[in-house]
Amino acid sequence: MVLLLPCGPLAPLGYPSPMSQLPALAQLLSGRRICTLTGAGTSTASGIPDYRGPGTAARARNPVRFAQFVGDPAWRRRYWARSFSGWPALRDARPNPAHAALARMEGAGLLTGLITQNVDRLHSKAGSVDPIELHGALAEVTCLGCGALSARDALQERLAEANRGWSPPPAPELAPDGDAELDDTGGFVTVDCLRCGGLLKPHVVFFGENVPRERVDRAFAALDAAEVLLVVGSSLTVFSGMRFVKRATTQGTPVCVLNLGPTRGDAEATLCVDADAATALPALATLLGAG
Ligand SMILES: NC(=O)c1ccc[n+]([C@@H]2O[C@H](COP(=O)([O-])OP(=O)(O)OC[C@H]3O[C@@H](n4cnc5c(N)ncnc54)[C@H](O)[C@@H]3O)[C@@H](O)[C@H]2O)c1
Ligand SMILES: [Zn+2]
Repeated sequence: MVLLLPCGPLAPLGYPSPMSQLPALAQLLSGRRICTLTGAGTSTASGIPDYRGPGTAARARNPVRFAQFVGDPAWRRRYWARSFSGWPALRDARPNPAHAALARMEGAGLLTGLITQNVDRLHSKAGSVDPIELHGALAEVTCLGCGALSARDALQERLAEANRGWSPPPAPELAPDGDAELDDTGGFVTVDCLRCGGLLKPHVVFFGENVPRERVDRAFAALDAAEVLLVVGSSLTVFSGMRFVKRATTQGTPVCVLNLGPTRGDAEATLCVDADAATALPALATLLGAG
């Protein structure tokens, strides 16, 4: 469903039919250089849950903080046991029509950059070239000792080897960060860096960590080169994403939001479209002449 709402909490009754609102968004974007900022809602149609979407409120989330991960072996065991169970589903997730539409828009030269808060690599799988992965990617692992980067798949093999006798509950539910909802992770064995024996950590920004400055600067450069910011599938609850709305607003760059439900950026947006990204983005791309 696509519904154009004047941004803000009060929505009068009697809107025109939802899909008929996309041309207004296309009109605002047309002929303008676009910077896109995507969030978890872009990937829900690929089977990866979000944190704060419709139906997700009931899910209790307790993501590990950086200090807990580094300071407490029990937290590391919990993290890696859940990640071990959830990784195959995340690794095998396929991009959906929203990712494909953004890749087409990029291919048509409409974008100054694609900034994503997602850690699932689905933009790259859809063909986007060098998306700015603000929070990193679960497909990579970093060593906190020597800084070496390695493939998550290789670690999966090592974890499988070290945990031959350990099996997760059948068909655990995939959780938003590529891990799985597991209650009992006792007995799971973690492994360390093969090169230096240091702690291994997914190459993503944990709560309690900052996004590396160089990444933020690249994302700012993409925004500064744009004439409009298009936010897709993000509640903008996390400052890391919201900062781009703030900067756009400060610079007088219009902001459009395409999201199911309200976001923290609505009050600063020129246009809010309450829509499923996997339905609306392909239609939008077509209206913009990007197939
Ligand atoms: N796929 C992933 O990589 C993933 C998944 C969950 C969380 N995260 C991480 O957690 C943080 C969450 O922040 P966020 O703002 O990205 O996510 P969020 O969960 O806070 O917000 C997602 C928003 O998308 C909307 N949404 C859900 N499905 C949609 C759809 N089909 N079309 C349009 N909108 C839809 C929801 O209503 C919600 O408002 C990020 O920093 C990210 O790193 C990543
Ligand atoms: Zn190391």
